[in-house]
Amino acid sequence: MVDIVPLSSYPSYIDLLPSIQTCNITNLPENYFLKYYLYHALTWPQLSFVAVVRPRNGYPDGKIAGSYPKVVGYVLAKMEEEPTDGVQHGHITSLSVMRTHRRLGIAERLMRMSQRAMAESHRAQFVSLHVRVSNKAALHLYRDTLGFQVDSVESKYYADGEDAYAMRMDLSPMWIDWAEIERKDRARHAKDEKDADEGDEVGELGKKEDEKEKEKMVRVKVGRSLGVGDLVEKNEVQTA
Ligand SMILES: CC(C)(COP(=O)(O)OP(=O)(O)OC[C@H]1O[C@@H](n2cnc3c(N)ncnc32)[C@H](O)[C@@H]1OP(=O)(O)O)[C@@H](O)C(=O)NCCC(=O)NCCS
Repeated sequence: MVDIVPLSSYPSYIDLLPSIQTCNITNLPENYFLKYYLYHALTWPQLSFVAVVRPRNGYPDGKIAGSYPKVVGYVLAKMEEEPTDGVQHGHITSLSVMRTHRRLGIAERLMRMSQRAMAESHRAQFVSLHVRVSNKAALHLYRDTLGFQVDSVESKYYADGEDAYAMRMDLSPMWIDWAEIERKDRARHAKDEKDADEGDEVGELGKKEDEKEKEKMVRVKVGRSLGVGDLVEKNEVQTA
């Protein structure tokens, strides 16, 4: 069973950084110092996610820390720190999934979770990334599955001289409309208060006068000594 967890749950998942680095080295020629992963995790903790195989018997005490689950994929993401155009946007630094776990939808889930976090936590206008022009699997994921578009071709972007597609995807449709949420909250609150004012009174206050009258205690005769006559209802008017 594969879980996708955010790196934000410091300190537990930060333990996984060395395994994330191993996953990166196994799958990609673009590698980074461990401190670069740590920088991402500490600076933009909501944006990076890791796919882990849950231990057969679950996590001891429900915590991942200490049990070292196997990392089978990750997305390392950030916000562009000094965007040249001044537009707030996210960037995918690295994404990979171990061969043993490919084509299970893990990369798609990692990407969607990161994109949502960029839009919701940072109100990112768009997310950008680079991909090798020869990387068919990644291109399919970005363009066909997720809806990225090619922005430009960057010549000899990679160290071995290969070109990169610079891609981006608009995230504004994912923004949370806080003003709308606050407006709904206020309307709900106002309705609750109105309902509370107009509701029927409860308890003693809510009873009508005739109901109160009915409930008055009446002293009645009880006991074996009562004769049948005492138990029969009498029409007082007729007997009179
Ligand atoms: C690219 C990569 C991350 C995809 O991971 P994944 O978990 O297998 O992808 P998913 O299962 O989420 O698949 C997403 C889509 O891509 C498609 N896809 C995945 N691998 C593919 C392949 N080899 N060829 C064609 N399409 C492929 C899937 O069919 C799916 O398409 P669908 O939505 O039409 O069904 C993975 O192959 C990988 O780690 N590659 C090496 C590292 C790398 O290239 N990283 C990207 C650097 S930019």
